[in-house]
Amino acid sequence: MLSETYRQFLRLVIYQIYPRSFQDTNGDGIGDLPGVIRHLDDLLELGVNAIWLCPCFRSPNDDNGYDISDYCAIMDELGTMGDMERLIDQMHRRGMKLILDLVPNHTSTSHRWFQESRKGRDNPFSDFYYWFDAIPNDWKSCFGGSAYAFDEQRGQYYLHSYAPTQADLNWNNPAVVRAMQDVVDFWVDKGVDGFRVDVVDQISKDFENGRNCFGPRLHEFIHALFGREKTRGLFTVGECWVNDAQEMERHSAFERGELSTLFQFDHMECGRADKFTPKPDSLRTVRDILIRWQQKTAGLNLLHSLFTDNHDQPPLLSRAANDREKRYESATCLAAMFYLLKGVAFIYQGQEWGTPSARYQSIDSFNDIESLNAYQAFCQTMPSEKALEKINFGSRDNARHPLAWNGQAGGGFSDAKPWIPLHSRYREINRELDRAASQSVYRFYQALLRLRRETPAFLDGDFQVVSRPEDGWFAYARTLGDERWLVVCNFEKPQTIRLPFALEAPRLSNLNRAQADGLYAPYECAVCRVLTG
Ligand code: NOJ
Repeated sequence: MLSETYRQFLRLVIYQIYPRSFQDTNGDGIGDLPGVIRHLDDLLELGVNAIWLCPCFRSPNDDNGYDISDYCAIMDELGTMGDMERLIDQMHRRGMKLILDLVPNHTSTSHRWFQESRKGRDNPFSDFYYWFDAIPNDWKSCFGGSAYAFDEQRGQYYLHSYAPTQADLNWNNPAVVRAMQDVVDFWVDKGVDGFRVDVVDQISKDFENGRNCFGPRLHEFIHALFGREKTRGLFTVGECWVNDAQEMERHSAFERGELSTLFQFDHMECGRADKFTPKPDSLRTVRDILIRWQQKTAGLNLLHSLFTDNHDQPPLLSRAANDREKRYESATCLAAMFYLLKGVAFIYQGQEWGTPSARYQSIDSFNDIESLNAYQAFCQTMPSEKALEKINFGSRDNARHPLAWNGQAGGGFSDAKPWIPLHSRYREINRELDRAASQSVYRFYQALLRLRRETPAFLDGDFQVVSRPEDGWFAYARTLGDERWLVVCNFEKPQTIRLPFALEAPRLSNLNRAQADGLYAPYECAVCRVLTG
């Protein structure tokens, strides 16, 4: 049985904003907090009731805000503390929740804590980070190269799981735990409703077994942040690569006082060798992963999370479906596949009008540290055109370009030169055009979110899989009491789908047809109530 708090959280539809790319209001080519405030009513109209805002704290921006130099100040380009307070106020007036992005595993090396720490071995910050006289193991940074860098000033090596300017905090030091509690409390006092917690699995390292994550004190550290009286009611979602449902429950059952939910990334990875190597991520693979997780988590005391996209991956639309000839059908079909399952819904900005992956002619169009490092490495072993091809496929910037609100110069994002180029197809794919189109991804999302909100079976109902593994389609039922709903999503081939139920006329379908003959077009989807009695 889910606690009442979790039953309420299941009703959240959380819109992820990458603030640099959302809306510029002061003409510097970088999105900002007033830009978020400007669109709150648009998000309400879509059916969203919460925002996860990617990091907006002071930062030198080597990793776009995931390298924080002051957790309690706003990044200059994004606005002021006054803007943040206004955002919180404006959201609460509309009944929306604000979820900030907490980055507890590492700070920027320009954070005061690191600046003090590097000064020597006997000051209050000396043990805030992991320092070594000699490199202790062969751990690699996620952005390439060794995870250890030498600091001349201190004369020792420090650990950085990401860029050398992102030093890992030493959570075994109780002062670090207290400092991060203070950060959380500062924002709770400002009124925020929760946190997305960046790479939370890494805050306890398992040096003994050679893993820089899932260390022996992980539960204790998370509990120290979110299990206190002050923080118990927050909504928290951990970036935490757990593969085992029972382990997931240990991290996120309400009574544990740890996290409310975790992101599960299996469907994002789809068994790819690495993120720059295309592998047809067929919808069958995605479907099977979704089914597995719905089944594994059924009956457990946890909340599952549902998402197709985020700021670290090119859109699933481009990887798993047809973002050219069948873009509308694919985008809407994916929405039906995911968001009528059981879980908390997360939507990434621009996904709601079917934004596909971007493509650029030159490496100069990219900004992301991971992509630029990978490009350099690829160029050692292949021609630069091939290397660019890989970056065009897998870059995080393919999801981070400025939003195209309309098809005019600047895309309605900014009148100035944007910090990275607009999407290569923005004149043809933008919010204004999509909303007015006869086939509108946006309007489909709106209708789907309304149906989800108004139908208890989609929130609390049980999940049953109807299609078989060999089928080129996905059908599932959601059942609550006497009420049963069926969601049918066809994949790339037209085909006749016979279902073992008598159905009412579709309540939602992307091609607005009755499917009376059972014939489904490519990526056609339909949501129907099952006739009872
Ligand atoms: C995960 C974040 O989502 C990603 O964008 C970031 O680069 C790393 N964590 C490091 O903070």
